[in-house]
Formats: sequence, C-alpha cells, structure tokens
Amino acid sequence: MKLPFAESWKIKMIEPIKKSTRSEREKWMLEAGNNVFQLKAEQVYIDLITDSGTGAMSANQWSGMMLGDESYAGATSFFKMKETVSKITGFNYVLPTHQGRAAENVLFSVLVKEGNHVPGNSHFDTTKGHIESRHAFAIDCTINEAKDTQLEIPFKGNVDIKKLEKEIQENKDKIPFIIITITNNTAGGQPVSMQNLREVRELSKKYNIPVIFDSARFAENAYFIKTRENGYENKTIKDICKEMFSYADAMTMSAKKDAIVNMGGFIATNFEKWYDEAKIMGIIYEGFITYGGMNGRDMEALAIGLDENTEFDNLETRIKQIEYLAKRLDEFEIPYQRPAGGHAIFIDAPKVLTHVPKEEFPAQTLTIELYLEAGIRGCEIGYLLADRDPITRENRFDGLDLLRLAIPRRVYTNNHMDVIAVALKNVFDRRENITRGVKIAWEAPIMRHFTVKLERL
Ligand code: F0G
Repeated sequence: MKLPFAESWKIKMIEPIKKSTRSEREKWMLEAGNNVFQLKAEQVYIDLITDSGTGAMSANQWSGMMLGDESYAGATSFFKMKETVSKITGFNYVLPTHQGRAAENVLFSVLVKEGNHVPGNSHFDTTKGHIESRHAFAIDCTINEAKDTQLEIPFKGNVDIKKLEKEIQENKDKIPFIIITITNNTAGGQPVSMQNLREVRELSKKYNIPVIFDSARFAENAYFIKTRENGYENKTIKDICKEMFSYADAMTMSAKKDAIVNMGGFIATNFEKWYDEAKIMGIIYEGFITYGGMNGRDMEALAIGLDENTEFDNLETRIKQIEYLAKRLDEFEIPYQRPAGGHAIFIDAPKVLTHVPKEEFPAQTLTIELYLEAGIRGCEIGYLLADRDPITRENRFDGLDLLRLAIPRRVYTNNHMDVIAVALKNVFDRRENITRGVKIAWEAPIMRHFTVKLERL
C-alpha cells in the first residue's frame, strides 16, 4: 500500500489556544464593532486573518537568532542574508527594510512620479496605496478568468499580455515599470506561469520598460510552476526561482510570508542606479543600509528561512494543507476561488449568502458568522476592503466579495482544517436563514476595513 502524505517536519514547541462560548463571542464581536480586526487575539480560537508574520520558525531559524550580529554597520547577519538572497534570486544589490510595504515605499519613492501608470496583475493594497498616494495609477491587467471563481485553470494569477501591451502602447512614457505579484494574492493566491513571466519580459524588452516582482510568495509560485507547468517537473525549486527572477530587474519582498519570519523585508536588484538612489530613501525611512529596520538576529533567521522554504518538501507540506482544506470544502459544496491557491482559501461569499444584498456586504457578514460559529477569524477581501470610489464616493461593488482564510505556515494541523471546514459547513447549512448583512456606522476615508464600525441588520 502506498504510504499516505505527511508533514516534512515534527513539532518541538506548542502554543496553547483557547475555545470560547457562542455568547462570549457575541459579546466580543459587538464590542469589536463587528470588525474582526478589532478583536483581541485571545478571543480567537483559530486565527486565519493573515499568513503574514504568523508562521512558525524552524529549530534552525531559532538557533540562528542566537548568532545575530547586532552591529550598526556591516553586520555579519546582513551579509549572510544578502548572500542567500543573491544565491536564490541572482540579484546582487540587497537593501533590507522592516517589511514589504516599506520596501515598496523606499523603491517607489525613487521610481514613481505623479501621473505615472504602473501596470500589473492585481496590485496588493499596500502596493496600490504606495502608487496612488504618489498621485499615480495602478493599472490592473490580470486575465479576466481570475474573476470567475468556479473556473479551474492552473495559472489564474497571470497577466493578460494583450491588456498589458495595449496599456503600454497608450501610455508608454508614463510607465516607470511593470509590477508582477507572485503569487497573485488579491486574485486568490493564484500563481503566475513561467511562460507568462517570459512573455511579460519580452514586452518589457520590446518597449524598454523594467519589470519588478512583488515577491512575497515567490517560493509558493515556484512550487506551482514545478507541479503544473510542462518542462519544470524535474527542476528544483531553487532553479525555478532563479529562472523566474531572471525575467525581472528588481524585487520587493515581504519576508513575513515565504521567508517565514515574523518581521522583515528587502529590495533586491541588479540596477546599481536604483540601488544607489533607494539607499538614500532607505536610510531616511528605515535605517542604515545593512539593517534597514531589522535586528541582526532577524536577518539571520530570514536567511535561514528563505533557504529552507525554497526546498520542495517544505512547500509541498504547506500547499498540500491548503488543498486538504479545499477538499473538505468540496465535500460540503462550499464555493471558493478555484483551484485552491498557495496561502489561502477564498470563499465566494455572494454565492453562499445569496439573500444578503451587496449593499449589506455578504463577505463581511460571512466573516462575522464564521467567527460567531466557532471562533475562527478570517478576513474580508471584498466590498469593504475595496473602499469608495475617490471621485463619486460610491461603494465599489464591481470586484469579487470574498472571505479569505489565510493559513499560517507550519502552525495548524489538518485537525484544525477539519474544524474550519465543519464550522463553515454549519454556517452554509443555515445560509437560507441569513437574509440580512451589516451597515456601516463609521468608516475612515481610506483603508476603511481595518477600523470600520458596523451594525448587524
Ligand atoms: N505584497 C503582497 C503580495 C502582500 O500580500 C503583502 C502583504 C505586501 C506586499 C505587503 O507586505 O505586510 O510585509 O508590508 N500582505 C499581508 C496579507 C498583509 O495579509 O496578505 P507587508
């Protein structure tokens, strides 16, 4: 008999988590203004609000922490991190930052000017924020198929090359760079194929426009290339990463995801000019160029995490857990963005809560229901997060309305996945009785989802 699949690690240290009663959760949810970002972590049983900075470090990473060199300038830990980044990506210049959005801030301070267009595949909110706050425009060129949650295609995070070329032809002089997010978080943790990256590169060469990768989950992207794209099945993850990055001129990295550290990030490039200019911004915003807001011990752990997580076994364990949850949801016929992505499952809320009108925020309603059901905290990636149109001030209802269940790396077991699936099934079973959603009692002018106060109707 073929042996079943199991994790490529064992557990050395555990962290207790607490269950609660429904009446406690009702009270806490009310106090939190029906916004899961306002809950205390101790009020949560299984926390799926993000996979960012929430992973469990390995024994090697923890032992690396003790070797951290805290020198202000020229720290040994920085050079270890730099060497690892260069080995995996082929980029020689590495500038540390305290997290991903800081890398965006530093690099975009150099590159993005008022009126610019920055095309890409579903820019992450902070990426978009750092473009729009500079009075420039983030142009989404993701393939249309990404919007159909029930369509199963292997690389749903891809760029639509025709849309991208049209944008370039119309606005060439306004485009400082193209940004490709691997994997595509906003479209559901969906991967971008090597073929697509190559095609973007060809356009970039044809029109002489640089390419940057927003690389938060690049290792998961490489796993999908290895397991789904012809010609890559026998290549190592590290070889695939090297080829992916050969199609870019620079990267921004949130190390809180695929480097499995709790805090950290960096910019890497082969353009000396970009590095020299970004260095100055890095010093102003982040810290000296060999620490950029990170402790020496954090750079040490980052280097080790990056090396470990660009190995197949670790990635396979991770992605198979997401697939396991997806299979459980299939049993209950709960609709989510198909196929399952790399870091999360995204439930298609309007397909579940069919009686809740869009004006009453179905995905947020489902997020609240799941928390009340079992103390599981997901997060809305939908109409609330989409904010209002800056000009008309109307809610933007044109995108997807999803409940994201982001799975932290190496933290929960498949028993937890079972609890999540059954909790969702219980909500799903009573979906016909959920006819009302929520209304906004107070909201901030931008990025409202973090602080919005809601009333249940
Ligand atoms: N790019 C992508 C694709 C991301 O998913 C994130 C963060 C960032 C950049 C910014 O990085 O948080 O280190 O500043 N995503 C987290 C999430 C917050 O929950 O998806 P950061």
